[in-house]
Order: sequence, then C-alpha cells, then structure tokens
Amino acid sequence: MSEPKIVVLEDAEAACVRAAEEITHVAGEAICTHAEFRLCLTGGSTPVKTYELLATRFHLSVDWKEVQFFWGDERCVPPDDQASNYGMADRTMLERLELRPEQVHRIRGEDDPEQAARKYEDDLRESFSLDEGEFPRFHLMLLGLGDNAHMASLFPGDPALHEQTRLAVAVNVPAEAARRVSLTVPVISLSERILFIVTGEKKAQAVKNVLEGSRDPERYPAQMALAGQSEVMWIIDQAAASLLTRKS
Ligand code: 6PG
Repeated sequence: MSEPKIVVLEDAEAACVRAAEEITHVAGEAICTHAEFRLCLTGGSTPVKTYELLATRFHLSVDWKEVQFFWGDERCVPPDDQASNYGMADRTMLERLELRPEQVHRIRGEDDPEQAARKYEDDLRESFSLDEGEFPRFHLMLLGLGDNAHMASLFPGDPALHEQTRLAVAVNVPAEAARRVSLTVPVISLSERILFIVTGEKKAQAVKNVLEGSRDPERYPAQMALAGQSEVMWIIDQAAASLLTRKS
C-alpha cells in the first residue's frame, strides 16, 4: 500500500480546478500510452464543478474521442432523474463533448438493480476484453467521500464491502430507503490511479478517520481504496482537511 498524495487547496473552487487539471494530465498520459483513456466517474455533488470545467475551460486539453466513460456507482433511478449520476455527468459534461454513444457506459438505473448490475458487468467484460475471473483496470477512478466515509455506494457495514468475485453489485441504502449499483472493492482498488475529490467541513471527520484513523475499513470503507496497488491522490479543500494533523 503506497502512501496517498494529499493536496490541500484553499477552497472548493480551487480544489475543483486542481482536479480538472489532474484528470486532464492523466488523460493525456493514458492516451499517449494506450491510445485510450478509461475513466470511471463518481457521482454526488462534489464533482459537478470539475465536470463543468472539463467541458469548458479544459475542453481542448483532452482528445475526448479517445475517452471511455464509466461510473463507480449509480442510483436506481431513470437516467433523466435529478438523482442519476449518469444524468448529472451528462448535463454538466458529456453532452458538450460530442461523444460517440459507444464511449458512454452507463449503469442502467431504470432497470431492476440486480439486472442492472449484471448488465454493467457484461459491459465491463466486453469493454476490457476480460476472461472469467479477471477484473477491469481503469486508468483513473474518481471517487467522492460520504460523511460516513463511504466510497462509491459501498457503505459502512454493508456485506458488499467483502464481495471479491463480482465486478458490480446491487446494494441497499437503508438511510435513503433506496437501491443502488456499485463497483466492488476488487475493481476500485485495482485502478491504476484513484483520485478522491472531497470538499467542505462536513467531510472533515470522515477525511480524518480514513487518512489518520485506525485501520477499520468496515467503518471507513474508503480505506479499502488505499489497500490496493493504486496510486492514490486526495484533492481536498482546507475545510475538509481541517482535522488532519499532517498535510503534505
Ligand atoms: C454517489 C457517489 C457517492 C458520493 C459521496 C459524496 O452516488 O452519491 O458516488 O459515493 O461520491 O456520497 O457525495 P457528495 O459529493 O454529494 O458529497
């Protein structure tokens, strides 16, 4: 497990700009090396500004026709629902990039959750040309952090945290009386690079628990992203970093 790189920015705006710069940099490297950039997007509200920047200020900095878009998780709602992670990414970024439909690998939130998970696994196996038992390796995995230290839709105490064979699973979210589909830990932690984008004082305790707390992935699922071979980077604002004792 390599030590994560922690980059603290003055405020959320600066953190989102830095995240867009990092994504642009990794995209260029991946496209130069592999002729393709396999990017796994996160949902939630934090990345909205970053996605908007990628589609505007950084639009010409990435060869978007070489990017394959995937998601770390999805809420089980239709794609045009305000809660849809696909819908958020489409409104803020994808619809402005003139992509071919085959570049966008959304999770079908409108389907039965288990069927949606199985369909997403089939898409991943086809997109990454996987044999049975193999896992997809993303060039970059974007992740947010819940104030309870969840990542993707892997929540504290959820049995899905221990899934070691599936690529994606349907999960229950008791706090929301909702269902979601999430990538599993083996997939997330296999990523070449993982970028956490976390802002706001509400996340300060979760950031401290994950980065400086006791090793307890059952309580702090985001710690599981640190246990693999990925190069992990945290881009956080001062508010989210306010409880950290060490800031590199
Ligand atoms: C989701 C995300 C989830 C998110 C965190 C942080 O579907 O909501 O994948 O893991 O990244 O809950 O969400 P905010 O950015 O809204 O605080």
